Amino acid sequence: MDGLVELKAVVLKRILEAVNQEGLENLRVEFLGKKGEISLKMRELGSMSSEDRMIFGPLLNSIKDEVNLALLAKRAGLDDLALDERLRTEWLDVTIPARIRATGSIHPVSQVIDEVTEIFSDMGFSVAEGPQIESDWYNFDALNIPSHHPARGEMDTFYMANSKSANGAPNVLRTHTSPVQIRSMQSLGAPIRIICPGRVYRADYDQTHTPMFHQVEGLALGKDVSMANLKWVLEEFVKAFFEVNDVELRFRASHFPFTEPSAEVDIRCSWANGQLRIGEGDDWLEILGSGMVHPKVLEASGINPNKWQGFAFGMGIDRIAMLKYGIPDLRAFFDSDLRWLRHYGFSCLDQPRLSAGLSR
Ligand code: DAH
Repeated sequence: MDGLVELKAVVLKRILEAVNQEGLENLRVEFLGKKGEISLKMRELGSMSSEDRMIFGPLLNSIKDEVNLALLAKRAGLDDLALDERLRTEWLDVTIPARIRATGSIHPVSQVIDEVTEIFSDMGFSVAEGPQIESDWYNFDALNIPSHHPARGEMDTFYMANSKSANGAPNVLRTHTSPVQIRSMQSLGAPIRIICPGRVYRADYDQTHTPMFHQVEGLALGKDVSMANLKWVLEEFVKAFFEVNDVELRFRASHFPFTEPSAEVDIRCSWANGQLRIGEGDDWLEILGSGMVHPKVLEASGINPNKWQGFAFGMGIDRIAMLKYGIPDLRAFFDSDLRWLRHYGFSCLDQPRLSAGLSR
């Protein structure tokens, strides 16, 4: 078995010269793999005389150990080199300013719903919801608007072509939030104090009307809830919402089928230089409809009108948003124009809190 020392020198030299892990692995296979040169020589030991084996055995083993050590050292060296190379090329300048991320904004309608909810929850009202596709019974009949009633024609109702209620009449896109009154009385009974903000639909389109808009309904029933309570609640609401200390409300006799007596409510304001000021001046601004819930409406909802009474009101959310934030055209509310949203929208950190003043 000649040439072992030379073989060792060649292997060690080639290991030193290896330039990458793959080359190194090939070398390992070439010399130490199953059919590797050193492995083959190890196998030859079996056919040697015991004297020769005593000489070549330890020699081969020490060569094998040395080659293994050299492989390990080279492997570590190549790893270090690769790491150095990565550190040299993959670097990050943490002093560069971060990219600006576009943030969304809260739509004025959402903001105003939050404001209204905050104010009324402070007065003990909770929030109720109902479906936007309603049966004509909930949207009309239960609210004392029978089918021949002129109010049905005035509402510009959207009828659903493919959706019918149990009585066979087509369902409607609710024309107001008042049906939620009926649903809430049915499910919660009396006494009750709720507001119902939500989407409503009417076939109408101009600067102050869109086919979809938002209302908030209010309902309070008790043993002796009266018009006086209605007046106080609405005054408190208007003061908090428009952030003014003094407001004058005018209750104008009106007619709604679902309330008796009924009143439309105006607030005193001025329009000097096109700027709306609440609580001063000689103009009046209509903001809502209201009244004492009609006994027939209570009956339709399973409430005994001889035991319970109360008030209800309905208000346009988009309308009070336009007034409070000086937004001239309702249609723009629903155009999804980002420039409009950035201008009139609110930061998500701007959560309305009565304790902190409602808005910026
Ligand atoms: N539902 C009415 C509308 O859409 C608003 C309204 C008026 C609601 C008087 C009421 C109310 O609850 O009492 O025009």
